[in-house]
Amino acid sequence: MRRITAFLLCFVLIFTLAACNSTPSGSSSTPAPASSAPEAAATPEPTSAPTPEPTETPTPESEAVSGGKTLVVYFSASGNTERVANAIAAATGGDTFSLEPVNPYTNEDLDWTADGSRVNVEHDNEDARAIELTAATVDNWAEYDTIYIGYPIWWGIAAWPVDTFVKANDFTGKTVIPFCTSSSSGLGESGQLLADMAGTGDWQEGQRFQSSVSHEDVAEWVNSLK
Ligand SMILES: Cc1cc2nc3c(=O)[nH]c(=O)nc-3n(C[C@H](O)[C@H](O)[C@H](O)COP(=O)(O)O)c2cc1C
Repeated sequence: MRRITAFLLCFVLIFTLAACNSTPSGSSSTPAPASSAPEAAATPEPTSAPTPEPTETPTPESEAVSGGKTLVVYFSASGNTERVANAIAAATGGDTFSLEPVNPYTNEDLDWTADGSRVNVEHDNEDARAIELTAATVDNWAEYDTIYIGYPIWWGIAAWPVDTFVKANDFTGKTVIPFCTSSSSGLGESGQLLADMAGTGDWQEGQRFQSSVSHEDVAEWVNSLK
């Protein structure tokens, strides 16, 4: 009987030890693996999803050729022509380009009633009218096919700072629409003189606006051209 009891105790002891060895202790001192086989979980199985067919995405070439953009170029000494230029740009969705003399006109410069003022000197001496601009050419000029060109009337003609821009650019293939502001004078020959100066481009008759013209009246004129 004692043998049987000893045998059973041994059996229980062996069974208990075997059970302990086959089970991890789960001790908190053993860090868990950072990840268990992430590659297998993260790598999706290849599927047989169909490859999309190319659609009618325009090529860069077709965008460049179609152009169709509008540029509103202007010189404005006291802000009137600039307001009109902004109204044209808003109505056409065009870009604007302001012609800025390197030596800007002050109020004294613009005083045509004062003997010896800058505008009087330049008016009396054609050689003094070659006004240097901070920029006389436009980035991406080729993209624009309609050019509005605006200026104040000075002594019945286009204020001469625009001459520098007109001489510096090739208007071939472009529709050019002059516009001006003035106290009372009309467009006169100002547009035609600029067209002759340019020698290229399809110059339209253009439009004169009162210095204080409203945004709405300018937009109405732009829409009448469409
Ligand atoms: C030097 C000078 C000459 C001008 N000559 C005329 C003119 O001959 N006829 C006219 O109606 N207005 C004339 N004006 C008025 C301007 O054409 C008018 O105020 C214009 O709207 C100014 O535009 P801006 O504000 O864009 O410079 C003259 C203005 C200046 C400064």
